[in-house]
Amino acid sequence: MNATFARNDAPATRLTGRVVLVTGGARGQGASHAHRLAAEGATVWACDVLDSEGAALAARLEGEGLDVRYRHLDVTSPEAWASVVGEIEAAHRQLDGLVNNAGIIHVTPIAEETLDAWNRLLAVNVTGALLGMQACLPLLRRSGAAAVVNVASIFGVIGAPGYVAYCASKGALVAMTKVAALELAPDQIRVNTLVPGGVSTPMNEHEKEGGVIPDTPLKRRAHVSELSSAVAFLLSSDASFVTGTELVVDGGFLSR
Ligand SMILES: NC(=O)c1ccc[n+]([C@@H]2O[C@H](COP(=O)([O-])OP(=O)(O)OC[C@H]3O[C@@H](n4cnc5c(N)ncnc54)[C@H](O)[C@@H]3O)[C@@H](O)[C@H]2O)c1
Repeated sequence: MNATFARNDAPATRLTGRVVLVTGGARGQGASHAHRLAAEGATVWACDVLDSEGAALAARLEGEGLDVRYRHLDVTSPEAWASVVGEIEAAHRQLDGLVNNAGIIHVTPIAEETLDAWNRLLAVNVTGALLGMQACLPLLRRSGAAAVVNVASIFGVIGAPGYVAYCASKGALVAMTKVAALELAPDQIRVNTLVPGGVSTPMNEHEKEGGVIPDTPLKRRAHVSELSSAVAFLLSSDASFVTGTELVVDGGFLSR
């Protein structure tokens, strides 16, 4: 997946001076977010467990003059969060944006779902976002105008046979986001959910019959850049009065 925002025109300086951490930032949507946010002026800490892909991404974007640093971060580990946040604190003292984008998926009917697989998926998709908000909170408070984006899915809003763990995880993120928005508003930290429809990434490249495309009015998956522009908006002052809500970017899927 070539992370590029060629289809969008990025406002050049909207995020200048902002420091943003993106989880799952080595490939797919996260890599595209790192590119877009840095292109808008942010310093981006792209974190993932795919170290060679993450390091290659950072090297490529640094080669374009963008400020993107890669760090290993398993979002299920409180110790790993503490380590990365400590490094960011030493470098910048504060954090202005957190994008909880890391996620995994599997397809298993309820009757065959295993406890191990269920627990693993919820650990990454839900607990990872909770740990991220907890770990980053002290630095986000120092920003004075911080924003968190939790990446859910249309499958957190509707049901899909075989996706019990994934749907449960993404529905939990939508609900968690509203709680976080209420709790963190006094600290001037906005918290919103991004709700993507089908997006062309390694996560779904093996899907047969186009996945959600037949049920998507625009009859295609999104390009990653089409999600990154939404993330950039939510992190920017253009969204200064937007908190506790879902930004749906789904080609019309949920309108049916
Ligand atoms: N692709 C889609 O159609 C689609 C649709 C809706 C929502 N989403 C969501 O968008 C987000 C990004 O997914 P994507 O489409 O770019 O897929 P992807 O598989 O390319 O990216 C997910 C990234 O998360 C990382 N990751 C997994 N476990 C991790 C962990 N424990 N710690 C840190 N990083 C970890 C992966 O290594 C990978 O780089 C996910 O939360 C996904 O659920 C995807």
